[in-house]
Amino acid sequence: MKSQKSVFICSSCAHESLKWLGKCPQCGSWNSFVEEKVEPKAPKGTVQYKGARPTKLKDITYSNTHRLLTGTGELDRVLGGGFMPGSIILLGGDPGIGKSTLILQAASKLLLPVLYVSGEESAQQIKLRADRLGVDSEHLLLLAETELNAILQAIDEYKPSLVVIDSIQTTFDSNLDNSPGAITQLRECTSRLMDATKKNGFTTLLIGHITKEGTIAGPKILEHIVDTVIMFEGDSSNSYRILRAQKNRFGSTNEIGVFEMLDTGLREVQNPSELFIGERTANVSGSVITCTMEGTRPILLEIQGLVTPSHFGSPQRVSNGFDYRRLSILLAVLEKRNGLRLSNANVFLNITGGVRVDEPAIDLPVCCAIASNLLEKRIDPSVIVIGETGLGGEIRSISNIDKRLQEAERIGFTKVVIPSRNVRSITYKGKLKILGVDNLQDALKHVLIQ
Ligand code: TYD
Ligand code: MG
Repeated sequence: MKSQKSVFICSSCAHESLKWLGKCPQCGSWNSFVEEKVEPKAPKGTVQYKGARPTKLKDITYSNTHRLLTGTGELDRVLGGGFMPGSIILLGGDPGIGKSTLILQAASKLLLPVLYVSGEESAQQIKLRADRLGVDSEHLLLLAETELNAILQAIDEYKPSLVVIDSIQTTFDSNLDNSPGAITQLRECTSRLMDATKKNGFTTLLIGHITKEGTIAGPKILEHIVDTVIMFEGDSSNSYRILRAQKNRFGSTNEIGVFEMLDTGLREVQNPSELFIGERTANVSGSVITCTMEGTRPILLEIQGLVTPSHFGSPQRVSNGFDYRRLSILLAVLEKRNGLRLSNANVFLNITGGVRVDEPAIDLPVCCAIASNLLEKRIDPSVIVIGETGLGGEIRSISNIDKRLQEAERIGFTKVVIPSRNVRSITYKGKLKILGVDNLQDALKHVLIQ
């Protein structure tokens, strides 16, 4: 008789245990263990191993020229220059963020055969969406199917260049006992799709859901198996969407793609700077424009600060799009080094457009926005501020200064406040007036107007 055992697997890090545990010893998450049935292994000694043959590094050849360009520039850039044949990509995102829309639009532009396997919507529903998006393609095949073996058979028969699985959580292998979405199913289906992908040299794109905690539903193991993980992010309250690579074996993880969700589908935003600073009101205090680097691309952003008196014991600090702890440090520096009284004030900080920035170069503009609102003085609307702030109130140098200056000039700014240490290394020869600053005090003198 076949004996079937079960193990317990942590749903956030895939740590295995023979008994149920309340807390995962590997990742520390609580109540994350789920029971999974284990298929019995072949008895010892019955499996024959063939000798593996290594190849000399210098004898291995590869070609980087055959990437599939989707024609959606923002997606191609995040992928590192299009889809790499033989690779498997996981696209994650909140439900309703626009994953299916993005991929349907991109897939319909490909001039190579695409097999779009949907386990979530019927072929009619997809056709309805395609009509709404105004896309039509000779090369796009739709398959409403969730069973892995049937999908692999269709792949074998139609030999597509790109296979889209929407979504991996609805796909299941009927040879396994577990229900769709179970960890064993996810792992098995992904591994078998991976084998087929590598063997036949097509590209597979898996669409995955995100859990409440913000991780791709199912364990981290999915992220380990695949070559590339891209996330589609955005705020349901606004129409901008950002595509970001979290892991990429074939490109950088710094690039972002910006889209806008319209009634007619996703529009690529090729000029994000104009979009993010487009609604700025220049005549109020507490608003400043800065330039951040997202991968190789400079993007202008508006930072807003609001300071109000606090009538309670502990003042509120709210930060939107910027690290909360970093904000606390900058407030302490402003108080101690510049004598600005902030310890009993509520401070609100916002980076507009729902963008998150994690870069030291926006320390100085954050300080300027807060000081400007506290002192009720406007910031010169023709100036861009960039710089890292140290604990001594000193302004430290930043990277990619030339690219940032070019972007500032392109958008029409005339002055820029940068760390004085950067001034020496600039090769930029444009029309911007460059003001080098050593400390916060200097910077505020240059940017604050009445
Ligand atoms: P969808 O691609 O189905 O999201 P996901 O696959 O990530 O779950 O997108 C669904 C949302 O997008 C839905 O709330 C409606 C909106 N949408 C538009 O605003 N315009 C459009 O043209 C389309 C197709 C969808
Ligand atoms: Mg979908």
